[in-house]
Amino acid sequence: MGAGIAQVAARGGFDVIMQDVADEFLARGMKTIDRSLQRDVDKARLSRDEKSAIVARIKTTTDIGALSDALIVVEAVTEDLDVKTGVFRSLDAVTRADAILASNTSSISITKLATVTQKPDKVIGMHFMNPVPVMKLIEIIRGAATTDQTYEKIRALSEQLGKVPLECHDSPGFISNRLLMPMINEAIFALYEGVATRESIDGIMKLGMNHPMGPLTLADFIGLDVCLAIMNVLHDGFGDSKYRACPLLKRYVDAGWLGKKSGRGFYEY
Ligand SMILES: NC(=O)c1ccc[n+]([C@@H]2O[C@H](COP(=O)([O-])OP(=O)(O)OC[C@H]3O[C@@H](n4cnc5c(N)ncnc54)[C@H](O)[C@@H]3O)[C@@H](O)[C@H]2O)c1
Repeated sequence: MGAGIAQVAARGGFDVIMQDVADEFLARGMKTIDRSLQRDVDKARLSRDEKSAIVARIKTTTDIGALSDALIVVEAVTEDLDVKTGVFRSLDAVTRADAILASNTSSISITKLATVTQKPDKVIGMHFMNPVPVMKLIEIIRGAATTDQTYEKIRALSEQLGKVPLECHDSPGFISNRLLMPMINEAIFALYEGVATRESIDGIMKLGMNHPMGPLTLADFIGLDVCLAIMNVLHDGFGDSKYRACPLLKRYVDAGWLGKKSGRGFYEY
């Protein structure tokens, strides 16, 4: 997701610094960006020179201190509260007082992330969809302390990136995942209970509901660890057993079968 966000920001004309914990992850991100832009070159949607210019606008680093001059930071690290609060503490320490700190979290409370910083008014959710270069929506989430000024800047930025911003308040799973994840979890329960095969479950939702991909394929694309983390946030946040994660999802994550990114999930890649 981080690479996709860096790509659309650079394509939108912004200078981008992509930061991660290790060079190998940055190299992987740059490779993803190169592949995605090359597809556009091949289809004559982008010139070779434009592609080079976009790539040249992205610098990579493992040093979080390199973000000291950034006006807007979009955090897209692992979906884990402890990891994210650690990153927000560091960002708060290294960034300018007027920098906006946005999170691409799929489900973690923006209000909670904001409390570990000295500028909760400048913390906001900027939830891009996967794949970032293709999907139009950015779900914008206001934390309890997010100001109108911060919201306006992020709304305008989203439009500058060619996206459609839609706003919601901070609530577990926001809108997108509060609706999507229980559907995916239910599909996993149906598979777990032997109600239908993976192909039937996905086919029924594709052909019957006009979904572009079935829920089990979508789960594999999102990452099963991410799906599990989101179900746990819904379960904890609402305290309602209807959000309990399916044991089969937990078992797959325990086995390291995380979907497309690990080569195996509900399907093999
Ligand atoms: N995968 C999706 O479809 C999707 C969609 C929308 C939003 N999101 C959200 O985007 C975020 C990232 O998801 P992803 O699927 O790209 O995860 P991922 O695990 O593929 O990537 C996370 C990246 O964060 C890096 N990272 C971990 N700790 C870090 C730290 N302390 N400092 C810097 N970098 C660190 C990892 O090295 C890795 O490169 C999550 O919050 C997720 O909920 C994911």
